[in-house]
Amino acid sequence: MQKDDLLRLLRDPNLLPSEKQTLLSNIAAQAAALDMPCYIVGGFVRDLLLGKLVNDFDIVVEGDAIKLGKTLVKKFGGKLTPHDKFHTAIWRLPETWNLIPDTLDLITARKETYLMPGALPTVTPATIEDDLRRRDFTINSMAIRMEGDHFGELLDPLNGQADLEEGLIRILHPRSFIEDPTRIFRAIRYEARYSFNLESSTFNLINPESLDIIPRLSGERIRHELDLIFEEGNSSQMILRAGEFGLFKMIHPSLPLFNADYSDFLDVDPTLDIPTSRTEMGYMLWLMDLMEDGIMSIAERLDFTSDLAYSVWAVSQLKKSLPFLTGSKPSVWTFALEKLPPLSIYVVYLVSRENALLDFLSIWRHVKPHTTGNDLKARGLEPGPRFGEILTQLRAAWLDGDVTNKQQEEDLLNQIT
Ligand code: CTP
Repeated sequence: MQKDDLLRLLRDPNLLPSEKQTLLSNIAAQAAALDMPCYIVGGFVRDLLLGKLVNDFDIVVEGDAIKLGKTLVKKFGGKLTPHDKFHTAIWRLPETWNLIPDTLDLITARKETYLMPGALPTVTPATIEDDLRRRDFTINSMAIRMEGDHFGELLDPLNGQADLEEGLIRILHPRSFIEDPTRIFRAIRYEARYSFNLESSTFNLINPESLDIIPRLSGERIRHELDLIFEEGNSSQMILRAGEFGLFKMIHPSLPLFNADYSDFLDVDPTLDIPTSRTEMGYMLWLMDLMEDGIMSIAERLDFTSDLAYSVWAVSQLKKSLPFLTGSKPSVWTFALEKLPPLSIYVVYLVSRENALLDFLSIWRHVKPHTTGNDLKARGLEPGPRFGEILTQLRAAWLDGDVTNKQQEEDLLNQIT
């Protein structure tokens, strides 16, 4: 790509909003003042060249990124979190700028050495070219130089641009997946996100040798990759593909394939007013047909939070108890469902189409009697467990249609107290 064309993209407010353009030029000016070659790298360059809106950016400098960060904070404010070991810093941008994301990574160009496959690498400062060569795919290994007269120069030593044009995901060297098998997950994500193909030797390197390293990855790292998949628009395609590659049994022997019958539900946004999360829904749909001990053991391997483990467990329990609940009165449904997370109930609704579940979420869970604990006290009743029983009985009467107005509730109350 000619420099002029790239400059046009960088100045296009539909691709890079003007406030972000200003931020970039401020950073570039500070880097120039420090005589530090400064680049924007990775996903930003890839998406800009694809003509997509870019939002997030990683800045790499040939020099000390922490020093650049300190200068930026001194001039513009915000807060710097330096990581001395990695020569990187996270700059929390001044609040008044109201930018999203509100942090920015500043990285010192580096080389990485992997002492052990699957372990985190050891990092040493290096040139931008070394930095690009340590990356995952050619399409992610381009940089645009930012400072001074160099603004808008594309660095593409690995021919990422050609692969971008051909729609190919290509690793940089044959040991890439062995050194970092999270890249297998990333390849699958880019393949479906951009409708690209895995270049043939890259495809062949997703093989027993690289898959064998997956068990060495921490639960947190694997879950992060799976979370990223579930957050994507095409997550169903990605999770089915990951199963085809045999990734799951390397994560945990009981981890099943994703049930293709459920895959359309990954992209459903609940229409009801319930807290929702695409990743939570993903794990629920994936694991709901397992037995309790399978779910718990996978939850441990993937380092689930206790809330996530509980939500997934709740889906599986509810799905298994549906045959016993079907045909019950609304009060029975309500008291059985009430302690479960609403999203778990919604997911069981998606796969079962049991209308009672939707009735619970949209109507029944909000039904309450008029009478309160204070009303019972005013009647001279002693507070205690009996209060709960009375209020539950009144609520059940409303739910089941035995009471339909305030007077009828009053009559029932008189009967039972
Ligand atoms: N990277 C890598 N190996 C990894 C993770 C990341 O080489 N296992 C490099 C890639 O060059 C990537 C960059 O680090 O472009 C930033 O990573 P990340 O923010 O995860 O990805 P993005 O490129 O921003 O892409 P996405 O749109 O998927 O977030």
